[in-house]
Formats: sequence, structure tokens, C-alpha cells
Amino acid sequence: MAAPTFNAGGDWQIFQSSGTTVTVNITQNGSRRLFGSATFGSTIEQGAVDGFGISFVIGWSNRARGRYTGSLGTDRLLCGTTVNLNLIAEHGRPPYRIAEARDPERDRDAAAYTAAVADWRSRRALACEALIGEELADGETGAFLVWGDPGVYDSTLAIVEEILQRGNVTFAYEVIPGISSVAALTARHRTSLTQVGRPVHLTTGRRLAEEGATADDVVVILDAHCSFDGLDDGDISGDSSWDIYWGAYLGTPDEILVSGKVSEVGDRIREVRAEARARKGWIMDTYLLRRAPRAGR
Ligand SMILES: C[S@@+](CC[C@H](N)C(=O)[O-])C[C@H]1O[C@@H](n2cnc3c(N)ncnc32)[C@H](O)[C@@H]1O
Repeated sequence: MAAPTFNAGGDWQIFQSSGTTVTVNITQNGSRRLFGSATFGSTIEQGAVDGFGISFVIGWSNRARGRYTGSLGTDRLLCGTTVNLNLIAEHGRPPYRIAEARDPERDRDAAAYTAAVADWRSRRALACEALIGEELADGETGAFLVWGDPGVYDSTLAIVEEILQRGNVTFAYEVIPGISSVAALTARHRTSLTQVGRPVHLTTGRRLAEEGATADDVVVILDAHCSFDGLDDGDISGDSSWDIYWGAYLGTPDEILVSGKVSEVGDRIREVRAEARARKGWIMDTYLLRRAPRAGR
């Protein structure tokens, strides 16, 4: 069955991480190609719609170029990422070059989250395998630039292993560590990730909502729903005294930090998060929950 396709024709607003909102007027032809113009007399240089995915490049009148890639949600909002092509051109300059592939769509509505992610990962592995096979000659070196640290909730290492197991291309590789959002969070709050003799649990918002806090120190990422809600009345400890160290857009000029007792700053975090997400169109946030020590512990 052919993937569903939407008509992206019309006016769209792009909420950029810089805080700037721009308007794009898009026309779509019968071959799903996109044309149009954007604020400041800029033009869409190339673009297309595929299924519910959209991708287009805008050449801005100030010579900046950006690629906008997203997908249409059930709420008719496009959500996605921007790639600063100037930045890529700068860092991908000779002797380096950039090899590009279309990132496959992930089924974000699938009931079976783990299976949906595994399927998406396999399709990404195929795309990356094709890149390696077609773009790299024997003896050449390629690299994947990964957000934060590749060892923290990132599929790249599993994708590389899947490619090797398929056996169509062979290579050796090494992993260069990056600064994870967890490291950035604790550094910006000037606190330590670990407490003397205490374990830390790194988990997702989904798991926190399902299981409650399963350690005295819990780092939560991938949380779209402020799952620290209800922590005070549902966790295994029965102890309501939790501190939270919350950070959004860590390491960027838009960074936001809030810390304090969950019971005191929880509402503020929810408000700040909702406002920032609405203003910028996206948010990435991470937090550390720390149970306040009780006497004798
Ligand atoms: C797919 S995971 C990738 C994690 C990444 N590999 C890392 O080292 O942080 C994406 C999640 O990481 C967290 N995250 C990534 N970058 C962030 C940032 N700059 N500020 C706050 N949280 C961030 C958010 O919880 C986001 O939902």
C-alpha cells in the first residue's frame, strides 16, 4: 500500500530555535515537489513531501541556508528539525564532505513503542548501509555526528552493529564520547550526578510514569509529559520530599534551568516548558530527581 501523502500547500509558520518565527508559503505540484517563498523575500530552493514527511531547503536572503525536515501529526502540526546547511558546509569542507540520506519516518502512534523503534532503527540501518556502500571507497573514513553522547538513548551504535551483522559492508569503527544532556544538566546546576554510595537510575518519562521513582536519584530524559507529576503520591518510597534539577535546551543560548522541591517548582516547570515549546515549536528537556535524605540514611 502506498504511504499516505498530504498536501502541504498553504501558509506555514516555522518556530525556530533562535526564537524567530518565519512564514513560508508553499505550493505543491502533482509530483509532491514543493515551491514557494518565505519571509524576507527568501525562496524554497528544493523540497518534497513523502508520506506524512516533508523536507525543504530555504535559501535565506541573508545567504543562510536551512533544511527543514518534519512530519505531519494528527493535530495537523508539522514537527521536525532544522539543519543549518551553512554550518554543515563549513565543517564539511574539503577534505571532508557530507553524505546525505533521507531519515525514514517513525510510527509515533504505534501502540508497541519498542517494536516501532526497532523497526525504525532497521530502516535507518538500511539507509546508512547504502550510504557506506555508495559513498565510501576502500580506505576512506566516514563518521556519524551524534547528538550529545552516542551511549545515551541513541540508536547510532545499534544501527552500526546491525549494518555489520547484515554483512553487506565491512568496516572497523570507534566511538568518540560526547557531552550528554545528563552531564550538561548536572554541570549547569553545579551538582553531582552521583551521591556518596548511592546508585543513579537513568530512565525515560514513559517509564517514570509507569513505575514511579525506583531509586533515590533518577535522571529522566525523553519526557514529553512532565512525568514527575504524581511522584509525591505514587512512588515506592512514600516519601514526598523530592528535589528536581530541570534543564531545557541545555548547552544552547536558549538554555532554561529550574531547580527546587518538586512540590514547589513543579507547576513552574510545567508552565515554563509549555510556554517555551509553544514559542519555539520544539523542546528538549532533561531532569534529575533527588530524594532528600532522611535522618539516619
Ligand atoms: C534521543 S535522546 C538523545 C540523548 C543524547 N544522546 C544525549 O546524550 O543526551 C533525546 C533526549 O535527550 C534529552 N536532551 C538531548 N539534548 C538535550 C538538551 N540540549 N537539553 C535538554 N535535554 C536534552 C531530552 O530528554 C531528549 O528528549
